[in-house]
Amino acid sequence: MRTLIKGGTVLSPTGGTSADVLIEDERVVAVTAPGVFDNADTVLDATGKYVMPGGIDAHTHMEMPFGGTFSADTFETGTTAAAWGGTTTIIDFAVQAKGTSLVSTLDKWHEKADGNCAIDYGFHMIVSDVNDSTLKEMGTCIDAGVSSFKMFMAYPGVFYSTDGEILRAMQKATETGSTIMMHAENGIAIDELVAQSLAAGKGDPVQHGLTRPSILEGEATSRAIALAKVTGSPLYIVHLSAAEALSAVAEARNEGQNVFAETCPQYLYLSIEDLAKPDFEGAKYVASPPLREKKHQADLWRGLRTNDLSVVSTDHCPFCFKDQKELGRGDFSKIPNGMPGVEHRMDLLHQGVVAGEISLGRWVEACSTTPARMFGLYPRKGVIAPGSDADIVIYDPAARQTLSAETHHMAVDYSAYEGFEITGKVETVLSRGKVVVSSGTFSAGTGHGEFLPRELCQYLN
Ligand code: URP
Ligand code: ZN
Ligand code: ZN
Ligand code: ZN
Repeated sequence: MRTLIKGGTVLSPTGGTSADVLIEDERVVAVTAPGVFDNADTVLDATGKYVMPGGIDAHTHMEMPFGGTFSADTFETGTTAAAWGGTTTIIDFAVQAKGTSLVSTLDKWHEKADGNCAIDYGFHMIVSDVNDSTLKEMGTCIDAGVSSFKMFMAYPGVFYSTDGEILRAMQKATETGSTIMMHAENGIAIDELVAQSLAAGKGDPVQHGLTRPSILEGEATSRAIALAKVTGSPLYIVHLSAAEALSAVAEARNEGQNVFAETCPQYLYLSIEDLAKPDFEGAKYVASPPLREKKHQADLWRGLRTNDLSVVSTDHCPFCFKDQKELGRGDFSKIPNGMPGVEHRMDLLHQGVVAGEISLGRWVEACSTTPARMFGLYPRKGVIAPGSDADIVIYDPAARQTLSAETHHMAVDYSAYEGFEITGKVETVLSRGKVVVSSGTFSAGTGHGEFLPRELCQYLN
């Protein structure tokens, strides 16, 4: 079965070139000058369109247990929504509950995901119980294709690890060549501020932002970097939202330390003003770290240009407004943390290209090529080249669309980007050579997605 994508501009981190792409079954077999091949079983005309490697969202939470409920997208609905938005791979987080093993956690996440995903998927492991046996199991996880481990400096009593526990896990990461991903907020100080706010009768959603000041993200980021330096471990800061944290990352990188960071579209486009919306509407925007003052956004765009921010992921963790965010009415600390976004990352970052904040090449690099390299999927994923999986998006840069809960495919009853006018739209999506989205129809079927065992980080190993 041969598919030819012809007439388009093929994108990579170095920009765009006019080229045709020949696919045989699941793989790309040739990228040629226009017109070299002219027939195939299926010919897709990409004239005037971008032909780009499918997006890789390295930070999602499908069916994630949090605050007594579960994030609203299942692996089936969440990966379907991802495909609609031009993302062809997700890396989701398996979550170790305290007192359980990493291996049983991984089994549980396979049970949830296997056979249910529309696109390919991998896992990171959230380590919330550091002990001798967990540390040993990190090696077993790596052998099973899970080569990155998320830890939390936030959420005391839930996911939180002490500095000593983080240090031990980092030593293990150094020994094994794996990656520690850090949720860097000072959870101990934040919990005091939260308790004080509630005691003062301040329970509205905006307090979520006011009790998690950006300086406490900067402090935790610096501390994580220091621990990584002492242990020689590489470090990947997740969902970086604050200028203070970015400065710490940039300084470490300037000194040659292997520190990487991602940001998310919500921190580039939304702000604490959204959290302050009246009538509990702000609950829609409760995620951690919180949305910041608008002044942070320019720094984050700059970080994307300078590569101090290497990746854009969504931290997709949707909770319905009506029945889930509602759990925290009157007490913001009980609002499930997280926002939807897996469907809109490619479109939202394209607005950065349209606005001149980032180049076309940088868009592709931050949304696809770098996550593939960072998390051991390259060159199977993240590039259009002979031998790579034919995970390809045909993107119309001139189309217009308006984002809305009425039209999105995520299983959540609101859009954080309701009414956003977008220039550009995904037209066709191929996952391993199969057309899964085409001009408004979805045809992947449940279970097309395969588990991706990942190598170690390819910037280091
Ligand atoms: O608020 C968030 N980010 N929820 C998902 C869990 C996490 O910390 O990434
Ligand atoms: Zn986190
Ligand atoms: Zn997350
Ligand atoms: Zn719902």
